[in-house]
Amino acid sequence: MRGRLLRAALLGLACAAPLPALPSTESHDASLQVLHWWTSAGERRAAKILATRLGEEGIEWKDNAVPGGAGLGAGKVLKSRVLAGDSPGATQIIGVSVGEWAELGLLRGFDSVAAAGNWNRVLFPTVYSLVQHHGHVVAAPLGIHRINTLFYNRKLFTRLQLSPPSNWAEFEQVSRKLRAAGVAPLMQSSEPWQVATLFENLVLAESGPEYYRDLFVRLSPQAASDKRLREALFRLRGMKGWMAPLEELSWPDAVRRFSRREAAMLVMGDWAKAELNEWGFATDDEFSCAPMPGTAKLHLYSVDTLAMLGTDSSRMAAQEKLAKLVVTPAVQQQFNAAKGAVSVRRDADPTGMDSCARDSWTTFAGGAAAQAPSLVHRMAADEESRDAIIAEVHRYFMNDSITEADVQRRLAAVLRALNLRRRK
Ligand code: BGC
Repeated sequence: MRGRLLRAALLGLACAAPLPALPSTESHDASLQVLHWWTSAGERRAAKILATRLGEEGIEWKDNAVPGGAGLGAGKVLKSRVLAGDSPGATQIIGVSVGEWAELGLLRGFDSVAAAGNWNRVLFPTVYSLVQHHGHVVAAPLGIHRINTLFYNRKLFTRLQLSPPSNWAEFEQVSRKLRAAGVAPLMQSSEPWQVATLFENLVLAESGPEYYRDLFVRLSPQAASDKRLREALFRLRGMKGWMAPLEELSWPDAVRRFSRREAAMLVMGDWAKAELNEWGFATDDEFSCAPMPGTAKLHLYSVDTLAMLGTDSSRMAAQEKLAKLVVTPAVQQQFNAAKGAVSVRRDADPTGMDSCARDSWTTFAGGAAAQAPSLVHRMAADEESRDAIIAEVHRYFMNDSITEADVQRRLAAVLRALNLRRRK
């Protein structure tokens, strides 16, 4: 495998099709190493559910959790392990990255598991297309996270007779009242991906899914020069005025501070809900969630997926079992309730979900017109483009002497360069 990856990297060659499923042998492994980036309390509980269910199938889940929100550390560990010829049997790879790994011919294909489970019918079309590469299924979907989630301290809002803001004018009004009551309106970390999370929310709120896709999926240099980007940048900077003192916090630390009432609102993917629940804060009691202002009917999504690595047949039976297991209705329900996400299945029952999950699932079920892929969580663009955009946005956010026009010029140039490279 090592030679193959190096060859692909050196020659720029790529294998277009996933690895063919090799015939199963008698001596298959009864354990599977699973690499992922679920290290917070809520995430660990969700992973444990998968591990337990896999254990019931007679396969031991060997946990390889790598710290780093949004998978920063896990991506690096995965690359070095594969290059060292020590690839884990299963790994969390999500969004556009699935295609990048599949293109190298390193992912196991799951067409027969998918066909047996009717994935083409039971999965949301967006999810089904995320797990495919050149028409073959190469990953198993776990759950859908909503990134345009505004968490608010419900008790505090009730006491101050405030409603969650549904547009920017309301956001400013609510923030003014919170400030007057001595509470910082918004918790925000200065960690680059978390700043970019707020920014992608603002782009979507400011301009809708079509423009959002022009900028982050089609990477159009014209979109970078558009005045809608200027507005979103301007809004990002303006929001600094409503934030609790800025620090580079990990996302669980930002959630922790929100739970301690150091700020009344927090913009974060709904894995934060799992964390709050885990710490004893029940949904719609201490806190609630609402869509980010201006995005009520929209779903900014990140879909978690597991891909399986390995050319040898010894792992195949275990890998296929895991892929099959995670899509079953029972595992979907249990895992996603613990993870703060929602089911990837169209036949899930939203009535049993809490209010945050119900709104997320029904909005996502609205179809492609309601959905926008998260740039930060690799749903929109390749790793290189994602990293370049996040770096520009973060620089602007941290340094007030950089103007919106500067960022727009730089981003247009970056996108032009990335497009040229893509065409090669
Ligand atoms: C993943 C989530 C994870 C979050 C925070 C996202 O990219 O999809 O499963 O909880 O990052 O690390």
